[in-house]
Amino acid sequence: MCGIVACVTSKKSDFAADACFKGLEYLEYRGYDSAGISLIVDGKFETKKAVGKLESLKKEIKSKPFSKSNIAAGHTRWATHGSPSIENAHPHISTNGRVALVHNGIIENAAQIKSEKLQNIKLTGNTDTQIVAEYLSMLLEETGNLQNAMTKLVKQIDGSWAFVAMDVKDNSKIVCSRHNSPLVIGKGESENFIASDVIAFVEYTKNAVEIKQDQIAVIEWDNIKLFNFAGEQIDYANQEYKIDWNIDAAKKGGYSSFMEKEIREEPAAVRNTIYGRGSQDGRFGLDRLDFDENYLKLIDKITVVACGTAAHSGYVARFAIEHWCKIPVEVEFAHEFRYRDPIVNSKTLVIAISQSGETMDTLQAVRYAKQQGAKTLAIVNTLGSALDRECDAVLYTYAGREIAVASTKAFIAQITACYILGLYLAEVRGNLFLDEIESKIRELKTLPDKLAKVLQSYDDIKAFAKKEKNTESVLFLGRHIGYPIALEGALKLKEIAYIHSEGFAAGELKHGPIAIIEKGQLVFVIVPPKNDRAEVHSKVLANIEEIISRGGRIVVIAEEGDNSLSEKLEKGGIEKIFFRPKTSILFSAVLDIVPLQIFACSVALFKGLDIDMPRNLAKSVTVE
Ligand code: F6R
Repeated sequence: MCGIVACVTSKKSDFAADACFKGLEYLEYRGYDSAGISLIVDGKFETKKAVGKLESLKKEIKSKPFSKSNIAAGHTRWATHGSPSIENAHPHISTNGRVALVHNGIIENAAQIKSEKLQNIKLTGNTDTQIVAEYLSMLLEETGNLQNAMTKLVKQIDGSWAFVAMDVKDNSKIVCSRHNSPLVIGKGESENFIASDVIAFVEYTKNAVEIKQDQIAVIEWDNIKLFNFAGEQIDYANQEYKIDWNIDAAKKGGYSSFMEKEIREEPAAVRNTIYGRGSQDGRFGLDRLDFDENYLKLIDKITVVACGTAAHSGYVARFAIEHWCKIPVEVEFAHEFRYRDPIVNSKTLVIAISQSGETMDTLQAVRYAKQQGAKTLAIVNTLGSALDRECDAVLYTYAGREIAVASTKAFIAQITACYILGLYLAEVRGNLFLDEIESKIRELKTLPDKLAKVLQSYDDIKAFAKKEKNTESVLFLGRHIGYPIALEGALKLKEIAYIHSEGFAAGELKHGPIAIIEKGQLVFVIVPPKNDRAEVHSKVLANIEEIISRGGRIVVIAEEGDNSLSEKLEKGGIEKIFFRPKTSILFSAVLDIVPLQIFACSVALFKGLDIDMPRNLAKSVTVE
């Protein structure tokens, strides 16, 4: 979390400050508690900061514009240590005015550094970054060179960081370092950039250099040098790449929010995920596999580790993979996984699912699994992310850039990738005949068109959401694969519309939750296909009866042609039915979540909330 952007140019102008501010606007998805920018002007730092979204910083800059400069660094913050305040906003300037530092991550031994190294210094604040800025300036006074000071610093700190630092006495360079938090360089014509994400500078250049784990970069307007933490220079040719998308992908394209745009992009996300790596002879492959494929025949357990929405896609995966591959699948929140002594060994395949590929909890779970001898496989949307690099195998979701904090198209692409993985494993392990696999692939390939059909109900769902914008509590029920979809529907509504919502396994209702059903309670129920697992279908209908008889108001997601509920729609009890095209139960998850996403997005819209940047959240959670 937290977004960093910095720029150094060939001559003094407004460009560096303007590019930093623009970059921060694109990075705001990473955090929006406070923001700030520092420039070097005539041997001094000129800094502006504001609490809250970037709009506040914009006003600050407008009321007193920045001076011209050739160098600038900016930051948008998601508070970890210390509340959102001007004092805690970055950049942090050392008390002697020598160093400006922006930071993404957490320095775990900051308190120790303060008590051991900075006893005689009175700090204005107490956050980890303030302490590090101060210590870096002390090392700079000792070494006389910011690169050397950074090299000394990284050997003494623990935790995670992406640092960007400037020395007020040398406006020709920016010095950065990276450990467990992303940083990438943008190579321009007469300027260079550094940012947490290429989105911050893609408007100016498509030439990027990834800073890898435990590297230090020294960036001048016409020169880039990379070093390892031992201080040795590195040839970075294999870290250079071209960005293959343009800035339009980072714009709303006429929609009311990125979330709406991304929901509407779901058919493409699924299509690209299916066809992204090509499938030869009806067979899917992985994007990368660094171990012998035969190893997959030996594994006796799969453990999926992920967080939030990504974990919900893991629950869907369990149904498909267990059914097709006859192998036990556990799904676990990544942050819980390594604290319970899980049984993980060389016969375990650990699958990490993540949109960003930078979620620290998920990364740590993968690292733990590797230590136990397990093989790891990433299902990830961000190419080149830490998870992509660290796992032994990878299957990309080609959902495209997801900007809204609430994940939608990435979730659907994750489920799709899980199906692909399940079919691939079934083929490698010989669990299904090729013609069975081919028939499932054929069905999988119908999903993009079916999704497009579900999206035709967008306005209908939106109109329903308008009526419900003042609802205070919503429940979501599902059975079988509908259960994780119920969890995901509830998560979407609470995170962007701030409505209390809970997802339940429908069968669990009578074991407690039914006590909260009273007259008028809104309940979404996901009804499984009638002709695939008929027993699950009839059980869900019985649950609907239980709710109606206690005065609940029901909204149903059901398969086209399922008329078992029409009578209740006419006579009361069921308020609304949203139909989805027919598909088998295992694939129905991809379609069933869409009305719930549209509902959440539309309720938030009618409540006048900031859909893309919900309070207290950030897009990538790079701290534990
Ligand atoms: C909710 C949401 C989060 C993420 C979770 C994991 O809409 O987006 O719950 O799914 O923080 O993030 P990634 O997928 O980047 O690892």
